[in-house]
Amino acid sequence: MKSLLHKTNLGKYYIGRCEDMIGKLNLKGKVQLILTSPPFPLNHKKQYGNLEGEEYLNWFSKLAKLFSKLLKPNGSIVIEMGNAWEPNRPVQSLLTFNSLLAFTNSPKAKLRLCQEFICYNPARLPSPAQWVTINRIRTIDSFTHIWWLSNSDYPKADNRKVIRPYSKSMKNLLKKQTFNAGKRPSQHIISKKGFLTDNGGSISHNVLELEANENEELRYPHSMLRLANTKSNDFFTKVCKQRGIIPHPARMPLELASFFINFLTDEKDLVLDPFGGSNTTGFCAEQANRKWISIEADREYGEQSKIRFEELLRKK
Ligand SMILES: C[S@@+](CC[C@H](N)C(=O)[O-])C[C@H]1O[C@@H](n2cnc3c(N)ncnc32)[C@H](O)[C@@H]1O
Repeated sequence: MKSLLHKTNLGKYYIGRCEDMIGKLNLKGKVQLILTSPPFPLNHKKQYGNLEGEEYLNWFSKLAKLFSKLLKPNGSIVIEMGNAWEPNRPVQSLLTFNSLLAFTNSPKAKLRLCQEFICYNPARLPSPAQWVTINRIRTIDSFTHIWWLSNSDYPKADNRKVIRPYSKSMKNLLKKQTFNAGKRPSQHIISKKGFLTDNGGSISHNVLELEANENEELRYPHSMLRLANTKSNDFFTKVCKQRGIIPHPARMPLELASFFINFLTDEKDLVLDPFGGSNTTGFCAEQANRKWISIEADREYGEQSKIRFEELLRKK
């Protein structure tokens, strides 16, 4: 097919608008996970011509039906979306929230919100700059929303595959094998043995924090899962720089993509990214031995995405 730009052992990357391409790829009922960050609303100056306002909402809501029918009965859709702001006003746009509602309320799909995650990026540059750094009347907008949706209340999921390392105090507790059991003010009853089994790590929370940098000090006790954030110094970014290529401006952190791939799929399952960009999703899927398909409207992003796989070839 003409629009196939490249392929690997496990995946294929197509060029085209996903609305036009999806029908041609015969994916109905085959996808275990759609993992994507669509063009954000109202970022109208971005290179890839995002839509604004109502127009965005109309376009986005139609994707609910298109995407939901691709899923296996226990499949999931994971969408990352940042906050949007009203142009020239210190007011947050409701478009992000309305986008979620448009998806879950779409009568043509049966999607429900399994869980919302927040991805906090402490290294985020101050934005919206006018209101944060000049007028000083807003704080830094530093997280993205991640919505996990499904046609089922029980999509495939296993939180044991995305455990976070135990804290120091938990490690000590496991070593000592003593625990202050009993009733807590919250009415939870903690059994004598409940906390003394080593499960290899503790259960992740739905607030994910990206590491600001490797040597940073911890500023508060960490109950969140901390995801390494290698976006600014990974192989892809370095090679882009060496070759004078401007890397995709809105890449998803690799570690975020890996988290949801591990959490919601098994080896050999099919992962789709309809807004593929630099193909973070496909690359992480390939590394985790999942099949993948990515679709992207802009050929230049497709071309640069091939660089990611050079890393795997060099490792062989
Ligand atoms: C937020 S970016 C995705 C970045 C990607 N997750 C990554 O890690 O590189 C959204 C992408 O969607 C592409 N895009 C916009 N409209 C599209 C459409 N209708 N079909 C397919 N791709 C589209 C844009 O060119 C852009 O690369």
